[in-house]
Amino acid sequence: MKRIKTILIFVLPLAVGLFLAGSCASARVSMKTGAQLWGENCMRCHNTPSPAAYNNVDWATIGLHMRVRANLTAEETRKVVEFLQSAN
Ligand code: HEC
Repeated sequence: MKRIKTILIFVLPLAVGLFLAGSCASARVSMKTGAQLWGENCMRCHNTPSPAAYNNVDWATIGLHMRVRANLTAEETRKVVEFLQSAN
């Protein structure tokens, strides 16, 4: 019993710390705007066409296509596509 308590004293704060660190990381991502995510991700492989280069329907399709290439989450993709569509 004493052993279990000793283990818990060390493991619990670690688990809570990891949990908090994880939720902070996702908070950071969700604070980024579509324009930021676009700037950080969409120029890694090619020059990014201007938001005005495609219409809203095309951006939705391109978003799905490039989500796979850029390895973005659904939320990040939604923000980037909304940013790109805002120019039209
Ligand atoms: C890992 C590399 C990579 C990243 C990151 C990337 N692209 Fe692409 N992109 C490509 C390649 C390769 C093509 C050529 C078409 C193909 O084979 O998919 C392309 C083509 C395109 C095209 C031409 C139309 C099309 O769908 O083929 C557009 C527009 C585009 N990318 C926009 C974006 C946007 C917006 C982002 C950010 C969300 C992005 N790309 C991120 C590799 C990338």
